Amino acid sequence: FWEKVQCFETVDSTNLIVKDWAQQGAEEGRSAVAEEQTAGRGRRGRSWISPPGENLYFSILLRPQAEASRMAMITLLMAIAVTQSVRELHLDAKIKWPNDVVVNGKKICGILTEMYPSADGSFFLVIGTGINVNQKEFPEEVKKTADSLALELGTDVDREVLLASVLRHFLDCYDSFLETMDLSGQKELYESFLVNKGRVVEVLDPKGKWQGTAIGIEKTGELLVQRKDSSVEAVYAGEVSVRGI
Ligand code: BTN
Repeated sequence: FWEKVQCFETVDSTNLIVKDWAQQGAEEGRSAVAEEQTAGRGRRGRSWISPPGENLYFSILLRPQAEASRMAMITLLMAIAVTQSVRELHLDAKIKWPNDVVVNGKKICGILTEMYPSADGSFFLVIGTGINVNQKEFPEEVKKTADSLALELGTDVDREVLLASVLRHFLDCYDSFLETMDLSGQKELYESFLVNKGRVVEVLDPKGKWQGTAIGIEKTGELLVQRKDSSVEAVYAGEVSVRGI
């Protein structure tokens, strides 16, 4: 697998590099990691500020033989992998559904998965992960919500060792996913990491805004939210925004 990881100094976005490779026929597992991104992309059209030399920015190409509807689940696998690796550093990492990794309530990792059609009618996925590793200063607008491993630990972390650990955990999760094409093998682990579990969340879906208690996830990745009348609803990522309150 390691032969498939290519390191770059400065790129616009590792997701774009891997997308280009994929469109030229690159095989599953090809990965790009960069010291710096000049146009790092976040979810919902936001940017991901990617200063040089401190953090991890990497993207992986996947070509799962799965239906497009199953693809979103794979993002959750990366959140599990990062959480496992950060926990090995003795930090209490948790997952904020669907796929932010937080420590003490502050975000230390973001994942952006992009799906594209291939020429043969199937799809490929680019999973891009940004981990705040050794960054000590954050811009004013994210100071309250962003954090890094070094700030939490009080010491710097070896980025290569961390990347190797994340990739190893991710491959384990991905192998298990491919066996069932769902999260049955990971559901329990994911739920044990879920910061929202047992908490009141506010769901904003096409029908409006409502509140409930997050109780876990479906084996297909949706968040299970219990209403006051005890009925349980499965909430889809992308369709809704969930706010902890
Ligand atoms: C988020 O908004 O939480 C997702 C952030 C994802 C950032 C990573 S960094 C590596 C990869 N390349 C990008 O341009 N974005 C992702």
